Amino acid sequence: MKELSFYKGKKVLITGHTGFKGGYLSALLSSAGALVTGYSLEPPTDPSLFELCKLESDVDHIIGDIRDYEKLLKVFKEKKPEIIFHLAAQPIVRTSYREPRLTYETNVMGTVNLLECVRETDSVRSVLNVTTDKVYLNNDEDKAFTEDMPLDGYDPYSNSKSCSELVTHSYIKSFFSDADAPRISTARAGNVIGGGDFASDRLIPDCVRAAERCEKVIIRNPASTRPFQHVLEPVTVYADIAARQYDEPEYADFYNVGPELSDVKSAGELAEIFCREWGDGLETEVRNDGGPHEASFLKLDCAKLKKKLGWKSVWNVEEAVKKTVQWSRVYVEKGDVRKELFRQIEEYLSDGKE
Ligand SMILES: NC(=O)c1ccc[n+]([C@@H]2O[C@H](COP(=O)([O-])OP(=O)(O)OC[C@H]3O[C@@H](n4cnc5c(N)ncnc54)[C@H](O)[C@@H]3O)[C@@H](O)[C@H]2O)c1
Repeated sequence: MKELSFYKGKKVLITGHTGFKGGYLSALLSSAGALVTGYSLEPPTDPSLFELCKLESDVDHIIGDIRDYEKLLKVFKEKKPEIIFHLAAQPIVRTSYREPRLTYETNVMGTVNLLECVRETDSVRSVLNVTTDKVYLNNDEDKAFTEDMPLDGYDPYSNSKSCSELVTHSYIKSFFSDADAPRISTARAGNVIGGGDFASDRLIPDCVRAAERCEKVIIRNPASTRPFQHVLEPVTVYADIAARQYDEPEYADFYNVGPELSDVKSAGELAEIFCREWGDGLETEVRNDGGPHEASFLKLDCAKLKKKLGWKSVWNVEEAVKKTVQWSRVYVEKGDVRKELFRQIEEYLSDGKE
């Protein structure tokens, strides 16, 4: 991994900085000395990692809609960012079934607006578009996706992210193919876990809510397998890709970002690990609520990431759950969650060096 000191004094723009991943990325880069501007709607949950950890003090915090091209362009012109991380999105599968138009407007036109602003702003040198492992055509076969497989997500969320990928590919070919053009990558990450995710309809936040209320953890699809990893794993990969392509264009590419295949777990297994780690007799209960289609199998082949970036996972899935429980315990006991967030970032970076 490129040294994070690369970011010292660099002007970075993060869209979606008030969200779960965006919060971790903002904390990581601002602690490395980057000058971070964040552009997002208000935090998507209450409570939120962003507010609990007072991350507003670490970034130049701008509330704005990614669908508002004029406002976004004004921010680009004023802040003159060099490095862009695009995370702003409607990221929940079930919400996308209820609100497909909002999902496509945010995730597809949001990407178009962002890339138009890149075109209109000379300062930009490196862009990373954060999509998802759900971008692939998934026939529920038990095989790992490689980056060259067809992009055709099933539900509106997954499909909007496939479209976001395709928009990015077209912009690269049409507008950013010159040697001195901004370097652009996409990163297709798996499900992430970590302290401070309060989203509804996600497994680990459901576990924390159940633990808080001393209730059973209800699992909808216990057999669904997902590549779960700690949020700091993809977030440090994002930082690495953006830094490397800033200096060397050959790193601009499309990357799967996921755990070792041995860390691909079913939802039921993950919830059991969580319950064991939490203690206090916490238990799971399977209750299928007949919800909309969600893929049963999802595995990523991350050979490209390993080969090109020399990437290795730092925390396996058990470790990731442990850190999530540690942060969530501090939260439930009304402790200093900001301190715990930055302590875990330090710990992750130091474990990575070992
Ligand atoms: N959490 C995961 O497991 C996971 C897995 C793969 C990919 N991703 C991707 O990572 C990114 C971040 O996900 P997250 O889990 O942090 O989600 P999140 O819901 O916590 O955060 C989403 C962020 O986007 C912002 N946002 C939403 N609509 C917006 C709009 N119209 N204009 C401006 N900002 C808007 C929100 O305010 C928030 O800051 C998303 O692009 C998501 O698709 C997440």
